[in-house]
Amino acid sequence: MVTIPAVSLNDGADFPELGLGTYGLRDVAGVDAIVSAIDSGYRLLDTAVNYENETEVGEAVRRSGIRDDLIVTTKLPGRDHGFDETIRSAQGSLERLGLERIDLYLIHWPNPAHDLYVDSFRAMLALRDEGQVVSVGVSNFTEPMLARLIDETGVAPAVNQVEMHPYFPQAELRAFHAAHGIRTESWSPLAKRSELLSEQVIVDIAAAHAVAPGQVVLRWHTQLSSTPIPKSADADRQRENADVFDFLLSGDEIAAISALERGRLWDGDPDTHEEM
Ligand SMILES: NC(=O)c1ccc[n+]([C@@H]2O[C@H](COP(=O)([O-])OP(=O)(O)OC[C@H]3O[C@@H](n4cnc5c(N)ncnc54)[C@H](OP(=O)(O)O)[C@@H]3O)[C@@H](O)[C@H]2O)c1
Repeated sequence: MVTIPAVSLNDGADFPELGLGTYGLRDVAGVDAIVSAIDSGYRLLDTAVNYENETEVGEAVRRSGIRDDLIVTTKLPGRDHGFDETIRSAQGSLERLGLERIDLYLIHWPNPAHDLYVDSFRAMLALRDEGQVVSVGVSNFTEPMLARLIDETGVAPAVNQVEMHPYFPQAELRAFHAAHGIRTESWSPLAKRSELLSEQVIVDIAAAHAVAPGQVVLRWHTQLSSTPIPKSADADRQRENADVFDFLLSGDEIAAISALERGRLWDGDPDTHEEM
């Protein structure tokens, strides 16, 4: 079993340096895949109302027998933005998960045209005060949106989960996060597999360290102080993805990987993308 190190969030909670994405892990096979990831050392699980697998994640958590060692993340969908709507939505997530608390609760997308994300964030802080949520964060927020949350509530989110991979390294946003104590979390950290893992620079660096290309990419995330959440349904790839903490990339190698920058995988611009 791999031991995945943890960092402290701005609210004092422990947060693993790598976690499991669960998009697409559903039904019995999905539960089995999540349990196998926990067995191989994963402690951070990422789900969302819109993945329609909170039930499977909750079932895997119960089967693992180590609920208190796990950080279960879920996300508020756009259709539930607003103060009262968020409180109600959280109760639905808790019921589907079958858990007594959400360890990390994120606003999935800001949906700025609806302008309700500050109300939702306030509701999440109220849920935190009541103990139903441990850490409060956001996903797909831009710098001005984060600045507004901090300005209007006095609280910086603990986490901002954003698209990040070598094609989209998010240098400016990461600098803003560092300045405000916000932990970066990378979604689609392997760029959804795509052609990233056959890029020559990644293949060469992998050979130099005698590791797999995916491990190089995931180590790049962790050395840039972001928590990647690779999704894999396969026990061997899950183990490989988690096993990235016993080699170090040089500064030149990190720069060479970041030079693959070319932009987002799809048109997921938080200023315009609406996800309900
Ligand atoms: N907040 C948001 O808006 C948002 C958006 C997108 C995603 N997410 C979260 O981020 C998680 C991860 O993103 P993602 O699922 O889009 O993409 P990803 O983790 O970058 O890539 C997943 C794909 O890579 C394959 N894979 C995994 N490990 C591999 C390895 N070592 N070598 C080769 N292929 C490998 C997987 O196939 P196998 O399963 O067959 O291994 C799967 O097809 C999601 O599951 C979700 O939890 C959040």
